[in-house]
Amino acid sequence: MSTELKKALYNISALADLGQAITSEDDFHEKIQSVFYVITGTFLVNKGAILFYEKANDKLTILTQKGFDLADLDLVNPAELKSLVKNEPRLIQDSPVAVAGAEILVSLWVRNEFIGALLLGGKLTVGPYTPEELELLNVIANQIAITLNNHTLFMELSDKLAENRRLYEEMRHIYHGTLQAFAAAIDAKDAYTQNHSYRVARYSAAIARELGWNEHEIEGMYVAGYLHDVGKLAISNDLLNKVTPFTPAERAEIRKHSTLSHDITVKIKFPWKNVEDMVWHHHERLDGSGYPDALAQDSLSEGVRILTLADSFDAMTSKRPYRKRMDVQSAIGELRKCLESQFDNKILLVFCKVLEKEIKGNLPEPDILPHLDSDSDLSVISSLLEAIIKELSAP
Ligand SMILES: [Fe+2]
Ligand SMILES: [Fe+2]
Repeated sequence: MSTELKKALYNISALADLGQAITSEDDFHEKIQSVFYVITGTFLVNKGAILFYEKANDKLTILTQKGFDLADLDLVNPAELKSLVKNEPRLIQDSPVAVAGAEILVSLWVRNEFIGALLLGGKLTVGPYTPEELELLNVIANQIAITLNNHTLFMELSDKLAENRRLYEEMRHIYHGTLQAFAAAIDAKDAYTQNHSYRVARYSAAIARELGWNEHEIEGMYVAGYLHDVGKLAISNDLLNKVTPFTPAERAEIRKHSTLSHDITVKIKFPWKNVEDMVWHHHERLDGSGYPDALAQDSLSEGVRILTLADSFDAMTSKRPYRKRMDVQSAIGELRKCLESQFDNKILLVFCKVLEKEIKGNLPEPDILPHLDSDSDLSVISSLLEAIIKELSAP
């Protein structure tokens, strides 16, 4: 075999090894380590290093090395490297690192971006680096530079992603804070319904979760619960807090609140679907006797059905100007009684299942139980829930 052919084969096998190392699925540091082994093995050197340029700090960090004292590698100067020809191996004698045993210095670049450096010591075999070896090193240097650059791009992208995620979380936090302020404003108007919006939000979200809705949909349900009575902000305080029965005109005025809730929320660009529809129809009934549109059955979405039940349950178990609060089992009995006319079988079944799980301690963060009358007899409630679950689960 001719010497030329031997050299060509030698170069091809070195590049094949390098290609394998670079395109492996290893993590970045393992990949660089493999590339480094290929280079030091191919050229048989006892010293070498791959350095990475940190643009933000204008300094080089060691990715991998062998044979050097770490302090010696500190002598490699980014400014000096930037002045060298891109990716071209340079034999050095006059650099401080030459004293530490480096013979070859390559300044690594991708297009006009300085990426880092490759250093190699003298070969263990006899003789200096040949022009062919320097040519091969030039090809290898280009490959390493691209690998380092890809890593930088990937890291920048990850940083950006993390930053976006952080900003999104911050925005969500502010958003929820604003919603809470809104809900507090609604509930503050009506002395008897303090925290009503908050409880309805939690009950509704708990039912949606049990129904298997995804996290985004549950959040939308929660927001609809929070804002369902936002229209009450436009109703007079005196009317909302009236102790004596309403006149027909007053009742009509109060009933405007669900349409007002719609008119307010429809102007907000929510990231969730149907919030304005859910708040609009939270006083509709399955038999079509509700308001404002007397919608029935198929016209009522699952979200509306959830909100209707959660709202009514909290209204019944809270004190109102015109009546005392109802005990929990009577309120559940009332929901059961109003199936078909007012509430949906499936929603009541799911509501009962959630509350039963909470009473049994099977849900780590209960949404309903903590807000119920603490004097309630949980065993009585539990038996009632079990009876309804059995009845509604029957085919
Ligand atoms: Fe309402
Ligand atoms: Fe309400």
